[in-house]
Amino acid sequence: MTAMATRIPLIAGNWKMFKTAAEAADAARSLDDLIRDVSGVDVMIAPPFTALSQVCAVLEGSRIAAGAQNVHWESEGAFTGEIAPGMLKDAGCRYVIIGHSERRQLFGETDQQVNRKIQAALAAGLTAVMCIGETEAEREGGQTFSVLDKQIRLGLEGVSFQTPGDVVIAYEPVWAIGTGKTATREQAQEVHAFIRDLLSRLYDEELADKLRILYGGSVKPNNIAELIRMPDIDGALVGGASLDPETFAQIVRLGD
Ligand code: PGA
Repeated sequence: MTAMATRIPLIAGNWKMFKTAAEAADAARSLDDLIRDVSGVDVMIAPPFTALSQVCAVLEGSRIAAGAQNVHWESEGAFTGEIAPGMLKDAGCRYVIIGHSERRQLFGETDQQVNRKIQAALAAGLTAVMCIGETEAEREGGQTFSVLDKQIRLGLEGVSFQTPGDVVIAYEPVWAIGTGKTATREQAQEVHAFIRDLLSRLYDEELADKLRILYGGSVKPNNIAELIRMPDIDGALVGGASLDPETFAQIVRLGD
């Protein structure tokens, strides 16, 4: 058995389709001030594309990293409306969220597309935050683990890691996103342990031990502490509660 890796928690904010560039820059500045004294936690915010440059300018020299919410797999070309990985790097992004359930459900994104996006993101030097999760019907039908197994196998097919930090997995049960329903910490831990075990079989134990697995779905200041205490929960991907800097700062403080 290898020694348990120490994984630095990552608290990531997904701002979805909220905030103008000026609003996003203001929020980033406030957040930076609010969490300046916090250590031992990595922090990322993912504003809309139109705010990325301004937010990255605000975050220069800050410990908060910027991420995008989506990416295309080609490096350039006639792909109206799409953004290439190199453009995100150029804007100052370190992370990119890939395969969020809203992209899968509302925009028809498939596991194959998620896979291509992850490969392209890694090739451009971005860290991919790969989102997976079951719907309520799938959970009730006892399919949670088979759905996640498929999403991980197809999403990571042919993906080779330079370091375990290349990919962060975000487990976000679809029924918990924006609904106020959170998975219990036991439900989340059970799934996170399953994901880590699957990664150790697909790759190796060392990688599985070091890779961060975030929980997402109605994470708030009052539930982060109990979630983060679970052995395989390494942080959170936060939607609604990341929009307000004060609230998000409390989550970054892990509820303290
Ligand atoms: P929520 O969203 O925190 O508003 O539930 C999470 C997400 O979509 O990543």
